[in-house]
Amino acid sequence: MTQDELKRQAAARAVELVRPGMRLGLGTGSTAKLFVDLLGERVAAGLDVICVATSEATQAQALSLSIPMSTLDETPELDLTVDGADELDSQLRLIKGGGAALLREKIVAAASKRMVVIADESKLVKCLGRFPLPIEVVPFGLEATRRAVLAATASAGASGDLVLRRKADGSVLLTDGGHYILDAHLGEIAEPEALATALVAVPGVVEHGLFLGLAKAAILAAGTGLTVLGSLD
Ligand code: 5RP
Repeated sequence: MTQDELKRQAAARAVELVRPGMRLGLGTGSTAKLFVDLLGERVAAGLDVICVATSEATQAQALSLSIPMSTLDETPELDLTVDGADELDSQLRLIKGGGAALLREKIVAAASKRMVVIADESKLVKCLGRFPLPIEVVPFGLEATRRAVLAATASAGASGDLVLRRKADGSVLLTDGGHYILDAHLGEIAEPEALATALVAVPGVVEHGLFLGLAKAAILAAGTGLTVLGSLD
């Protein structure tokens, strides 16, 4: 089975969690995109839901499928958010932001009663950190912020290079919020909670890609079938 087929299986299981009248958060990335496609099919068949997107890309996709969209200002409490992840561990701690949407993804997940992660099994790791940790920073004072982030990561026992994320054409990537992303190549993150605490204390850091205590469950697809971590109830 291809990775895309695995992702689609996880997305299809997550769509089964959607009930009429639900307020949904829609994630970002290739796996979340498959979920939105499948949700669009159910909406076209008459399902009544209202959704909030975690990125401009997801917003555009959902609108193209005529999925009813709202904002967190109009709909500040959500029932369920379904999103992908770049990495997760067995405690449902995540690294997100490979698609540069970490800030809105975290705000939407935090506004949801339940966040369910969908992924293929390759995303499950023993220890977070193989995937570079995205850290969203304001453009003002970039070099000073970069140095402070380096000190913060070192203080949490997780040192490594910080790379300013660029687009394929070489220009600096701007997030939907108009910020930059520093990708932290830290290797194994032994203490994600300590690192998260150190990062949020740095002025200029808007958000980081460690999602701790947010996901209630993960649906992981492998060639042998689906595995669920946590509870889907
Ligand atoms: C976007 C994200 C994505 O959820 C993450 O990058 C996973 O994407 P994909 O499903 O394409 O592997 O955090 O900011």
